[in-house]
Amino acid sequence: MEIMGRGFRQIVRETPCYFHLLTKYVSYKMFDKKSPIYGSADIINVCNLHCTHCYWWLNRKENEELTVEQWKKIIENKFKKQHVFIVTLVGGEPMLRPDVVELFINEFPKRVCLVTNGTIPLKKYEKLYFYWVSIDGTEQIHDQIRGKGSYDTARKNVKDYISKHGAKAHKDIWISMTINSLNYKTVKDVAEQWYDYSNKIAFQFHTPFAKGDPLWLPFGPQRTKVIDDIISMKKNFDDNYIINPTKHLELLKKNWGGKGTTPIDCPTWSILSVDHLGREKRPCCIGSADKDSLKPICEDCGLGCYSVSICYGMNG
Ligand SMILES: C[S@@+](CC[C@H](N)C(=O)[O-])C[C@H]1O[C@@H](n2cnc3c(N)ncnc32)[C@H](O)[C@@H]1O
Ligand code: SF4
Ligand code: SF4
Repeated sequence: MEIMGRGFRQIVRETPCYFHLLTKYVSYKMFDKKSPIYGSADIINVCNLHCTHCYWWLNRKENEELTVEQWKKIIENKFKKQHVFIVTLVGGEPMLRPDVVELFINEFPKRVCLVTNGTIPLKKYEKLYFYWVSIDGTEQIHDQIRGKGSYDTARKNVKDYISKHGAKAHKDIWISMTINSLNYKTVKDVAEQWYDYSNKIAFQFHTPFAKGDPLWLPFGPQRTKVIDDIISMKKNFDDNYIINPTKHLELLKKNWGGKGTTPIDCPTWSILSVDHLGREKRPCCIGSADKDSLKPICEDCGLGCYSVSICYGMNG
């Protein structure tokens, strides 16, 4: 028996987590008490790429990195204290901090997702939930966004991982594509090209930090068509390969998040997000802990992780 990649034993071991999840859900529904369900941590302040669309570079400041011991304290004082269920590791490029990756995976067995640009060889961690590999188009477009050779390296690393770790290894690879004005025509190709090498694919849309950002795919006929195409593509693949629920994709056709840079309907509380110093980011995981930072435009938001929660009954 397997549910969302979790075997019977895992589910039994996680019984206390489900109890906390249920408590959180009931408290939210009955008393409007909001407590985070997920966590996200920028475990590193360094990246080996400089992608054109990236929010992280916009607010990056030169800072020291935290030690493993400091991260352990953050895990205890924030994530464990608030009983978050799944933790997503981001950055920068989290694969450049294997010591912190290992710490998180040991603290949250089968409850850590690691978001990577795929340019560093993927290590087999028995207790990792899965890798999110970011793919932003077919080779030429992906390289235009992420830098020459980045697609080929990511493809090689994923293929090597699968050939090294056996037939089931593709289950550890989930693809994340952020759709923008450069790559929106490649959505079908990306799904087809990665189907044999991955377990799932998720789509989200570029979120701008300035009005007039040319990478943002505006609400309107072009964006609606991209989404309608994804919805009809869903039935061409087996096993719910495209994981966005149809209701979620429909939501991304328009403003679901807020007004200007203020979140309104967005369930920002559902993810406890910390930066590379362990400080809580506002208003969400693409924001910043610094008061003088640039802010994402909520009314044009395309982020998948918060908008999908709306489909499960959570709001701002
Ligand atoms: C900041 S990266 C960090 C992890 C890793 N370096 C990577 O590229 O996957 C996390 C994810 O955010 C996405 N992302 C970056 N800028 C974005 C933006 N402005 N709007 C939406 N997603 C964005 C990236 O494509 C990537 O999938
Ligand atoms: S690899 Fe990830 S963190 Fe680095 S610039 Fe690209 S999107 Fe941003
Ligand atoms: S996820 Fe929420 S808070 Fe963040 S930019 Fe989008 S709407 Fe705003």
